[in-house]
Amino acid sequence: MPLDVDAVRAQFPSLAGGTAFFDGPGGSQTPAVVAAAVASTLTSPLSNRGTVTDSERRAEETVRAARSALGDLLAVDPATVIFGRSMTALTMDLARTLARCQGWGPGDEVVVTSLDHDGNIRPWVTAALAVGATVRWAEVDPATGELPVEAVTAVLSDRTRLVAVTGAANLIGTRPDLPAISAAAHDAGALVHVDAVHLAAHDRIDTAALGADLLSCSPYKFFGPHLGVQTGRAELLERLRPDKLLPSIDAVPERFELGTLPYELLAGATAAVDLIASLGEGSTRPERLTSAFTVIEEHEDGMRRRAEEGLSAIPGLTLWSRAQRRTPTLLFTVDGVDPAAIHRHLSSLDVNAPASHFYAWELSHRLGLGAAGGVRAGMAPYTTAREVDRLVDGVAQAVSA
Ligand SMILES: Cc1ncc(COP(=O)(O)O)c(C=O)c1O
Repeated sequence: MPLDVDAVRAQFPSLAGGTAFFDGPGGSQTPAVVAAAVASTLTSPLSNRGTVTDSERRAEETVRAARSALGDLLAVDPATVIFGRSMTALTMDLARTLARCQGWGPGDEVVVTSLDHDGNIRPWVTAALAVGATVRWAEVDPATGELPVEAVTAVLSDRTRLVAVTGAANLIGTRPDLPAISAAAHDAGALVHVDAVHLAAHDRIDTAALGADLLSCSPYKFFGPHLGVQTGRAELLERLRPDKLLPSIDAVPERFELGTLPYELLAGATAAVDLIASLGEGSTRPERLTSAFTVIEEHEDGMRRRAEEGLSAIPGLTLWSRAQRRTPTLLFTVDGVDPAAIHRHLSSLDVNAPASHFYAWELSHRLGLGAAGGVRAGMAPYTTAREVDRLVDGVAQAVSA
């Protein structure tokens, strides 16, 4: 059964105003059930986690349910699901912790890629440089938008301690061959951290199958509230000792969670996972998630092809999203036209497709787009063909103006 887009759209109050949102890669719109879960958690009796009062148990249950939901989404043990303020904050902490606990030092090497969002580059660069370790770059091929496996294997050595690589590039959608990259990294004795922030909105994630020792994502990219999620192999997390307060829980995953958890946001994240699962079929949530991502992908790919067809007919337009395997996220520029002017013109037509480097700073520069970047149009389950046509018409107008 194809995705029932009208039924999906009915769940998002913000779509009622008629704006076409192509800015999902920056953050999706929020369904009513997610907002309701946030609100009802805050307005129900709620205390710090505990087992004595109803309100303590509600907080406890909210955390349990969120670990379970994210565990299902990422196909990991809920006991390895860590919550934090954002992927960036979690990864900054993780990088420092790994460097210290694994004794990185001069002569050790950390591999980052020029395909990645800076959130999966700078934390590792900063942690490596702080201890005198060397940073090695796996380079994207600007002509194809690919990060070939060989680009990573070329910079692996027996001193590589960690490879940080994206599951999908937020700027151009490229999906590197993670199982192959992870296998090569593991052969070299390195750990793999996967940035699944962009990927998690578009595909069913199986953390182990990707070969990730550690993986991060952000629920606000897939209908949830603004927070970050991290997971890792249980035995690896057990070995790590992050900076923490003395009296706070020392077990995994709490050891990695600084301060009181945002219970209301966790409830929203659970609702977001449940909403995605409700788009699929099956008797368990993992089954429904797998089924849901099949129909989501099918729908989004159809929208992507329609957008590509329309956009590529516009004179002077370059589509930078061209890897073989990629998410439905299109980056484009038009010769002689400031991307910001296209963004502004589209906005006047109630079409949201921003222009930027979107923190894929290295990639934007490797593509020759510098700090201006390009215009990014991301497809979502709520995207319609009519909206895609409005996008294409709007860009054509902006260019001919
Ligand atoms: C691919 C990717 N990685 C990391 C991030 C950073 O995520 P957060 O905002 O949760 O720190 C983003 C945000 O846009 C992203 O798209």
